[in-house]
Parts: sequence; C-alpha cells; structure tokens
Amino acid sequence: MHRKIKRSPLFYVGDKYKLMKQLTELFPREINNFYEPFTGGGTVFLNVEAKRYYLNDNDKHFINIHKFLIKSSDNPRKFFKGVEKIANKYKLSKSYKEDIIPIALKKEHKKTYFARFNKVGYEKLRTCVNNYRKNDPLILYMLLIYGFNRMLRFNGGGKFNLPVGNVDFNKNVVSALGDYFEFVKDKKIKIGAKDFRKFFADKKFVKNDFVYLDPPYLITASEYNKFWDKKSEADLLRTMDMLNKKGVKFALSNVSHYRGNKNDLLINWMKKYKVHKIQSNYISYHNNGKKDIKEVLITNY
Ligand SMILES: C[S@@+](CC[C@H](N)C(=O)[O-])C[C@H]1O[C@@H](n2cnc3c(N)ncnc32)[C@H](O)[C@@H]1O
Repeated sequence: MHRKIKRSPLFYVGDKYKLMKQLTELFPREINNFYEPFTGGGTVFLNVEAKRYYLNDNDKHFINIHKFLIKSSDNPRKFFKGVEKIANKYKLSKSYKEDIIPIALKKEHKKTYFARFNKVGYEKLRTCVNNYRKNDPLILYMLLIYGFNRMLRFNGGGKFNLPVGNVDFNKNVVSALGDYFEFVKDKKIKIGAKDFRKFFADKKFVKNDFVYLDPPYLITASEYNKFWDKKSEADLLRTMDMLNKKGVKFALSNVSHYRGNKNDLLINWMKKYKVHKIQSNYISYHNNGKKDIKEVLITNY
C-alpha cells in the first residue's frame, strides 16, 4: 500500500509534489543519512524515511521558516496561537477557522474576494516585516501564505515586495502544517543555508547514505535560477562524480531539453549513469505534436 504523499506547507513553486510517487519508487529502499542540498520547500524530504536528515538551501528565508516550523513541531498549539494573533491584528481572513468575509463582497467579487478582503492588512504586515521585524519567520510565513503565488520575493534593497494573493490560511494549509509537524517532530534533522559547494565540503559519508539533488535547472526559467550558471552546473556535476567515487548513492533531478533548448553539459555527463524518464508536470505541450520538455532522474545505482 502506498503512503499518502505529503506536500510541504511552504507550497514551493516548482516543488516535486506531483512527481513524488515516481521519484520515491526510484530511491534506494534503505537510507541511512539523507542529504538534500537544494531542499526548497522540503516536499522531498517529507516523503523519505531515513535515520538522519541533512538539509540545505542557500535561500536563508526559506531555511529560517523551516527552522521555525521544526521548532514549532514541539508545540503546534503555540504556533497556531501565533498565527491567529497576527491574523486578528491585521484583520486577515482565516477560512480554516471561520468565514468572516461579508456576503456582499463575495457576491460583488466572486473570484477575487480573498485578495480584496486581505489587501490592506497584508500591506500593513508587509510594512511591518520591512521596517522592524525583518527576519521574523512567522510573519514571513504568513506573508507567503496570503501572498501572490505563495512565494517570497525581495527587491534589491532587501524589502519584501510581493502583492497580496487571492488565497488565505485555509484547511489545506493547516493540514499540510499538521503533516509537517508530525513528520519532523522526532526526527534527527540538521538544516543550514550554505552554497551547495560548502554544504558538501565537510560531509563524511557512510554506507547506505543517499544524496538527492534538485538544483536550479540551467535551461528553464525560474526566480531561483537567476544565479545558476554553467560554472555552478559544472561544479555540481564534478561533486557528483566525487560522490560516485566514494560509493555514495545519488539521484539528480533535472531537465535535459526545454522548449527547443538542451543542456549539452548535462547530456554528455549523464551518459555515465542511469537515466530515468520522469513524467513531468511542467507545461509540456507541444510543438507540432512533439513534447518539448524532457525531465529526468539520473542515478548512480
Ligand atoms: C528546484 S528548487 C528545489 C525545489 C525542491 N525540490 C522542492 O520540492 O521544493 C532549487 C533550489 O536550489 C536553491 N539554490 C539555488 N542555488 C543554490 C546554491 N548555489 N546552493 C544551494 N542551494 C541553491 C534555490 O534556492 C532553490 O530552492
């Protein structure tokens, strides 16, 4: 019987939620230490059973939220009290608990009433985080949950700059948080915010360790791909050859072809290993009937 696939309560854009079943079927059966240098929202580790977890992402905001959620797993009630306090103070709707949106507003703006109702409070909360509660992980999390596309985005001056979204703190969020708390609560997890090269620098691997990597993809477009270049890609591939020499199992997610582009560096490198086709959830239709995206999982076992 298959376990339910958990989705991270960070609702990370480009997460692996829809692909988890395909991926975990290709993961090793027995995992000692699980390493994930590009954790993002964390959907992958939430669906992997291991003795210990070493998680990392160079986005410090997401890592701070993970740290906060892991800490909160000791006392979810306190966490939800904090959520309520902020929602009440900033007059944000919280449909997981009650429906406070006036019927007239719902009727007038059938598809956008959450955004209309929460806009003013959301902007105040944004000002709060930008002016004096800079790294408050709960406020950042609330901005993410109520924000546009459920993302975090900062301008060059470090100010959070996304607008309100047409969503709120609903039952799906609470259920994803419940799964997250339940999963992490008695686990041994180390988590940090380093560049992947530094992450690997001090690791000593032992038998049955497994590294899963989901880096930015060189040829697709995404907010977190901005600083990913051919040098990063080459460094990553070299690191994986090093893991292979040490006998450490790895699996790398990537995209070899995308809308007429191909990643030659990757395509040449992956010939050495096993390449599994993944049924991608990218928008994958179709130039003249040809699929223009190839998503792969590359393993050395
Ligand atoms: C494709 S996303 C991972 C998504 C994740 N698998 C999920 O399900 O949510 C790639 C991640 O790599 C991180 N990243 C980008 N450059 C990095 C670097 N040099 N070192 C470590 N992490 C990096 C980004 O912040 C982003 O979260």
